[in-house]
Amino acid sequence: MAIDTEDLLTRIHAAPDLPALEAERVSALGKQGLITALLKSLGKMTAEERQAEGPRIHQLREQVTDAIAGRKATLEAAELDRKLATETLDMTLPAAPGSQGGVHPVSQVMDELAEIFADLGFSVATGPEIEDDWHNFTALNIPEDHPARAMHDTFYFDQTDGEGRRMLLRTHTSPVQIRTMMSQKPPIRIIAPGRTYRSDSDATHTPMFHQVEGLVIDRGIHLGHLKWTLETFLKAYFERDDIVLRLRPSFFPFTEPSAEVDVGYTVQNGRRVLGGSDRWMELLGSGMVHPKVLEACGLDPDEWQGFAFGCGIDRLAMLKYGMDDLRAFFDGDLRWLRHYGFSALDVPTLSGGVGA
Ligand code: PHE
Repeated sequence: MAIDTEDLLTRIHAAPDLPALEAERVSALGKQGLITALLKSLGKMTAEERQAEGPRIHQLREQVTDAIAGRKATLEAAELDRKLATETLDMTLPAAPGSQGGVHPVSQVMDELAEIFADLGFSVATGPEIEDDWHNFTALNIPEDHPARAMHDTFYFDQTDGEGRRMLLRTHTSPVQIRTMMSQKPPIRIIAPGRTYRSDSDATHTPMFHQVEGLVIDRGIHLGHLKWTLETFLKAYFERDDIVLRLRPSFFPFTEPSAEVDVGYTVQNGRRVLGGSDRWMELLGSGMVHPKVLEACGLDPDEWQGFAFGCGIDRLAMLKYGMDDLRAFFDGDLRWLRHYGFSALDVPTLSGGVGA
């Protein structure tokens, strides 16, 4: 039985697609295939014939097997290219209306804060979440043995940075005060929203939470500026003119004097509604920047004064949008996100209402 090797190999190389190639394989190497038949014919040969024909037939089989494998790889690569080409997504296309996904309430509130404070001349500053001891504590007038360090339930890293400083997850956004004062000349007006970490967990505490820091440094800044700024911010944020604040003497190592700020609320149908001065709830910490903090940043306290405040963003979101369990913020439950999330197209503006 003669076989036209050249012709067979040409057909394999020319197979237009995988099914055609498979047909060639079956006709050559399948049960009824030509090469299979040749191999079977070996059994009927004499020993001498087999010695001459055997290697020739095996070589032929190998040649054909290799040719098929080669063609198969080529066809498969072409098929993949074709698929990839037809499956491209045009990322520049506008999103279809009513598409899935939304803005998390925390992101929404951060956008609202940026909008409100931009109107008051503040810019947004950021700092690293992995901080060193010096920025998170020491420069903020919290020395090594200060009890406030224990109060912060700090997550420490085992490693130190290149200069032997102990690294930690920042326990508040206040280190951004330090970074801003070290890198910018006054006058300074910034807010610094971001993630913060403490080892704490219950319905109103999660190990990761969000704060917004505020910092103003200028000449002749006093407590009145602080109170006006907070009042203006909270009236805009809660979209109510009857927001009443109460400043209570308090203590933070990095402010002097320090004030805890309470906001007045009433209870309506079992829900807290902000406004008025019926009852009080604690909302944020604040004070005049401590002279030692200014000095640590190379500023002369006789020339520059300022105020700072720090406020929980998750808390702000809960109060405005009515969630009562903080832990659900970070569960990633789609039903929760659909219920409390915001449309990506609904950008908060002061004119359109920051509440979206
Ligand atoms: N950093 C303080 C805290 O996390 C809040 C604060 C910020 C207080 C700025 C005063 C001034 O509790």
